[in-house]
Amino acid sequence: MKISPEILNLVPYKPGKPISETQREYGLTTVYKLASNENPLGTSPKAMAAVKLALDHQNLYPDPSHYELLQTLSKEWGFPTKQLAIGNGSDELIDLLTRIYCEPGDGVLTSVAAFNAYEVSAPANRAVIHKIPMKPGYLFDLPAVADYFLSHPEKKIRLIFVSNPNNPTGTFVPKADVESFLEKVGNRDDVMVIFDEAYNEFVRDASYASAQNYISEYKNLIVLRTFSKIYGLAGFRLGAMIAPAEVVEVYNRVRKPFNVNDLAQVAANAAVQDKEFIERSQQICWKGLDYFYKKLEELGLPYIPSQGNFVMFDTLRDAAKVNEALLRRGIIMRPLLNYGFKTHLRLSVGLEHENEAALKALAEVLKEVPLLS
Ligand SMILES: Cc1ncc(COP(=O)(O)O)c(C=O)c1O
Repeated sequence: MKISPEILNLVPYKPGKPISETQREYGLTTVYKLASNENPLGTSPKAMAAVKLALDHQNLYPDPSHYELLQTLSKEWGFPTKQLAIGNGSDELIDLLTRIYCEPGDGVLTSVAAFNAYEVSAPANRAVIHKIPMKPGYLFDLPAVADYFLSHPEKKIRLIFVSNPNNPTGTFVPKADVESFLEKVGNRDDVMVIFDEAYNEFVRDASYASAQNYISEYKNLIVLRTFSKIYGLAGFRLGAMIAPAEVVEVYNRVRKPFNVNDLAQVAANAAVQDKEFIERSQQICWKGLDYFYKKLEELGLPYIPSQGNFVMFDTLRDAAKVNEALLRRGIIMRPLLNYGFKTHLRLSVGLEHENEAALKALAEVLKEVPLLS
């Protein structure tokens, strides 16, 4: 049976190495996974309590309209429910938005070293990915993205993805740049502009502004949020979209009716209201990042200050070898070769003892793996 070249050439998304696999392969009992930007505090206790109560009716299908959760999100985030939609992780939203807005051969535009899911979803939906080089400092070059879009109508670019803050670099686009970008590409009929704000809640820099602030001004602007990071629900698979009502309406026609299971809906409903847990999660992230910066400086390793719950740093060595030596010591970080970075690793903030173990192992490994000249 013939399979199209776009599908045959797909490079699957490479997730962080699971703890159980690392334990098996390296014969270890203690393994710390600091590779997938998860919440080290676990899941909000309020969400866990709500899930336990919901366990007794899992013989029933989940609510396909996500009614309760949308009501809560509407209150918490300040948008009418008709401008909100839920996905099976923001992954599903990314994939379905690509399916909705791209015909075969249409273009999807983003930056080099942007979150990899856009690049995976485009060919899976027969679209073509275009990537604009970053500015020095691993920054999204939004003026260049807008120029490329405006000067290449023949590429038929239908989606522009901006991850803000970006994974894996941790860098962000400040408010002023978001505004001038939207002035250039906003309110057009031929392109949707998608700001992926998975790390929104971890941002400390005062010059950041969520694109949510501009939703009412632009009919082609979409903002994605996730429950996998600060809300600690990565395993439940839940993402959200804030968008013009027309976009939500089309998305709800395309998605599967039961795309988000009942336990996930119940968990998210409680988690977004658990302010105490959100605040604790922010504090542990910021404290962990500051600790990483201090230790990386002591080790003489350059790093990129991050607005996410992770930091990308330069090992100045073959990162594959550093990673392998870390795995042998039970530390899982994320190699970034698929983003084109041969000497960098990404390290997610963990609990204090996990962070300390990771940096201790890193210090040892640096003595073992030679510097690249
Ligand atoms: C920028 C960005 N967007 C989206 C996601 C995916 O989130 P979800 O778990 O909701 O699919 C991630 C996960 O790492 C991410 O880094």
